[in-house]
Amino acid sequence: SDLDDFLLKLPKIELHLHIEGTLEPELRFRLAERNNIELPYSSAAELRASYDFDDLPSFLTGYYDGMRVLRTEQDFYDLAWAYFEKAAGQNVRYTEIFFDPQAHTGRGVAFDTVIRGLRRAQLDGRRLLHLHVQLIMCFLRDYQPEFAMATLLESLPYREWIVGVGLDSDERGNPPRKFAEVFHRAREEGYLLTMHCDVDQENTTEHIRQCLHEIEVDRIDHGVNILTDPELLAEARRRRIGLTACPISNGWVSDGLKAPEIKRLLDAGLKVTVNSDDPAYFGGYVSENLAAVQRALELTRHDLVRLQRNAVESCWAPPAVKDRIS
Ligand code: HPA
Ligand code: ZN
Repeated sequence: SDLDDFLLKLPKIELHLHIEGTLEPELRFRLAERNNIELPYSSAAELRASYDFDDLPSFLTGYYDGMRVLRTEQDFYDLAWAYFEKAAGQNVRYTEIFFDPQAHTGRGVAFDTVIRGLRRAQLDGRRLLHLHVQLIMCFLRDYQPEFAMATLLESLPYREWIVGVGLDSDERGNPPRKFAEVFHRAREEGYLLTMHCDVDQENTTEHIRQCLHEIEVDRIDHGVNILTDPELLAEARRRRIGLTACPISNGWVSDGLKAPEIKRLLDAGLKVTVNSDDPAYFGGYVSENLAAVQRALELTRHDLVRLQRNAVESCWAPPAVKDRIS
C-alpha cells in the first residue's frame, strides 16, 4: 500500500537494539564453524524453529547461549556489520546500539576484543553505508554491582567510543537502586544514562520511579507501564524523557505488542519511539516493528512522523548529526 511504501522510505532512527540480539542463525552457524564450536542444531532453520520464548528469562537463556560463538574481534565486527547492512537497507540513518561486555568478559573474551570489533564496524558503517552509529554499554543487572563497577572502570580507556551506559537482563529482584553508585560514577565520567524497565515485569512502576527520581536517567528503555502512574507520566513528559518501546519484543515476553499503549503515550505527548530490541530472536527489524504498530492501530503518516521526530529529540547524537538526521 501507499503507507507501506511511505514507511519503507521514511528515514529512520533506532535507539533500542542489542547488537548481540542481531545474531541471525545463519551467522551463528558460520561463526561456530570458524571457531570450532559445536552447535546442538543441524541447521540454521532448525535453530530458528527452536525459538519459543514466553517471558524475559526464557528469552535471555537463548540470547546468552547464542553469543557463545562470538570470540574474536572479527566476530564482533561481522556481527555489527551484518546489522548495519540490514539497517541501512531499511533506511535507518542513525542507530544507538547496546552491547553487553560482561556477557563476553565473563566467558573469557577481553573487553578490548569486543569494543575494537564494534568500533571498526562503526567507522566502516559511517564511511561505506552513511549510517551513523553510537555505542551504549549495558550492565547485566542480574550480576553484582561490583562487577558492573569493574566493567565501568575497564571502559574508561575507551570513553570516547561510548556515548552512554544502560542496564539490561533479568529485572526480577534487580531494581535500578542496586546500581545507584555505578550510574552515579558513570555520570561523573560523562556517560549519558538509560535503564531497562521492561514491560509488565515485577515492580515495574517502582523501577520507573527509581529511574526518574533516584538515578535521574536521561532515557528509559521500554517504560510503557508508566501509563499506570499519572505522577510519573507527568514527570517524564516534563523532563522530555525518551521511552524506547519495542512492540514485537513485547509480543514475545508479555501479552501483546502494547500498540494501544504506544499510541496513548504518543497522544499524551511522551517522547515514545519504536524499536526492535533483539531482531534476530524476535523476528523483526525496525521497519517490521513500525509496520506492526501501524497495522494494529491504523497509525497515520502524521503518527509515524511524530514517532521519528521523538527519536530525533531523544537520541544522543551531537547537534550537527541531529540536524542531518531530522
Ligand atoms: N530485556 C532485557 N535484557 C535484554 C533484552 C531485553 O529485551 N535484550 C537483551 N538483553
Ligand atoms: Zn532491550
